[in-house]
Amino acid sequence: MYSFLKALIHNPREMGAIFPSSSFLAKEMAAHVVKNREGVVVELGAGTGVITKELLRSGVQPSNIIVVESSAGLVKKLRRRFPAIKIIEGNAAELVALLAFEKREVHTIISSLPLRSLHKPMAESILQQINLRLSDEGRYIQYTYSFNEDPFFSLANYQRIISKRIWMNLPPARVEVWV
Ligand SMILES: C[S@@+](CC[C@H](N)C(=O)[O-])C[C@H]1O[C@@H](n2cnc3c(N)ncnc32)[C@H](O)[C@@H]1O
Repeated sequence: MYSFLKALIHNPREMGAIFPSSSFLAKEMAAHVVKNREGVVVELGAGTGVITKELLRSGVQPSNIIVVESSAGLVKKLRRRFPAIKIIEGNAAELVALLAFEKREVHTIISSLPLRSLHKPMAESILQQINLRLSDEGRYIQYTYSFNEDPFFSLANYQRIISKRIWMNLPPARVEVWV
């Protein structure tokens, strides 16, 4: 919690939240990852690792998870907490370059990035990179605090298959799954 607050004070726009996600929200996010698929799950913006922990608990192998997190302080904590997971310090807007070493398919991108609080060009670059790196049959899972169901961005050729409200979170959130 302390590391989350520290990162929030240093970079409120990038943190985009006052508290880490609740276990209810983290469980809902992880529940939409299709298990036992060939390839890797990429988590964007892991923060203190609440969703990372749920990915592991739900059965995703640590060797099949790659985390991308921009805050150096949080990366340090994540590496200590999850020594078996590859944690990359970097900007999700450079996702393709950051994952150049990975030859396996990325079948899921699970993101807590605060797209609505980031500058629009940055949010758009991130979405373009997600589109480039996600496999054809892949899933993009994202939560938002916005209850406005209109997508504020367009993901060409994507379809939203789930939009579920999670009341047990501060603030309440909505989980979206795109294919
Ligand atoms: C709302 S917090 C979510 C933290 C955690 N996953 C949770 O749900 O509690 C957003 C996280 O995204 C990270 N972040 C923001 N912009 C980023 C970017 N462009 N690339 C990678 N990580 C970013 C922040 O440092 C922060 O840890």
